[in-house]
Amino acid sequence: MVTYSTELASAENAERAEVLELHSIDRDSVIELRRGFFSDPPSLPSKYFYDQAGSVLFDEICELDEYYPTRTEASIMGASVDAMVDAIGPAGRLIEYGSGSSLKTRLLLEHVHADVTYVPVDISSDYLTEVAEGLRLEFPRRRIAPIAADFTRPFQLPSSGAGRARDVVYFPGSTIGNFRPSFAATLLSQMRNQVGTGGGLLIGFDLQKDSAVLEAAYDDRRGITALFNLNLLRHLNRVAGGDFDLDSYRHVALYNDRDHRIEMYLESCREQTVTLAGHTRTLSKSHRILTELSHKYTIDGFTEMAAASGWQREQIWTDANEYFAVGMFRS
Ligand SMILES: C[S@@+](CC[C@H](N)C(=O)[O-])C[C@H]1O[C@@H](n2cnc3c(N)ncnc32)[C@H](O)[C@@H]1O
Repeated sequence: MVTYSTELASAENAERAEVLELHSIDRDSVIELRRGFFSDPPSLPSKYFYDQAGSVLFDEICELDEYYPTRTEASIMGASVDAMVDAIGPAGRLIEYGSGSSLKTRLLLEHVHADVTYVPVDISSDYLTEVAEGLRLEFPRRRIAPIAADFTRPFQLPSSGAGRARDVVYFPGSTIGNFRPSFAATLLSQMRNQVGTGGGLLIGFDLQKDSAVLEAAYDDRRGITALFNLNLLRHLNRVAGGDFDLDSYRHVALYNDRDHRIEMYLESCREQTVTLAGHTRTLSKSHRILTELSHKYTIDGFTEMAAASGWQREQIWTDANEYFAVGMFRS
């Protein structure tokens, strides 16, 4: 069943609630789903990968031999954490977009100033609650204010405990690459407006490389990425009135050389009729539903996109293979 309710808790609640819950499948989500799925080629928003099961599958992906981004980004951070912590400085809030397991963030939380409030923001609310509980035990003195929200829409932040100190957005995992360049720029502008002049952005982005390395990373031998992709249909069956037959789709991941991005699809194995959010369509055999884009950048190209959204590059860290980059920007 599709529900249309939106619960917008007040900033006051942010101080009391364990997790501030701002996300639900509302009317705008239904419109977005229908617009994508009932056009040609059909697409589904990749944010629906992430219910509890999807978040756990993503953590499994991060451990795979083929999936280089997580361990590469973690090693870049491990090698330069002191410089990153210096660059963050005595911030008010460290706001993490798409925090997931907050694994790499732990490195920062161990070292950033004691007054910094950590604000993990994620759409996968049950998983966020679980992770936040773990973080509170691990960092009992740190102020942690989780927000369950869709970061593609404006959302309200909890008050800062540190007076006029600047805020810093942390956006690891190359999640920025999941958005087409025009929307990635919009998101970067939203972040800039959230932190204001003088604010910071510490962001991980994936770099262009050999297509064989990329395609293996998104189509692993054990089939975990395939399960993750299919979980999107299971999630939509549960929350958006879908009737997808999960056995009738196969996972496809291809590198698009022209647009420098991995494209993930679910390909229909037979002709079939599907209902989603109250509407029905037919998919032919081999019809592909686009489920994820993952853009790969050059350092200069990313810097230009960030500059167009009001972010000036301060520092870039990368690995010896130049597979991945972490950048510090200032607004
Ligand atoms: C690629 S994972 C990265 C996780 C983690 N930051 C990391 O670096 O390993 C993307 C994360 O963003 C969250 N996410 C995806 N789309 C979102 C959205 N629109 N709003 C809020 N969170 C979202 C997912 O639940 C997931 O935890």
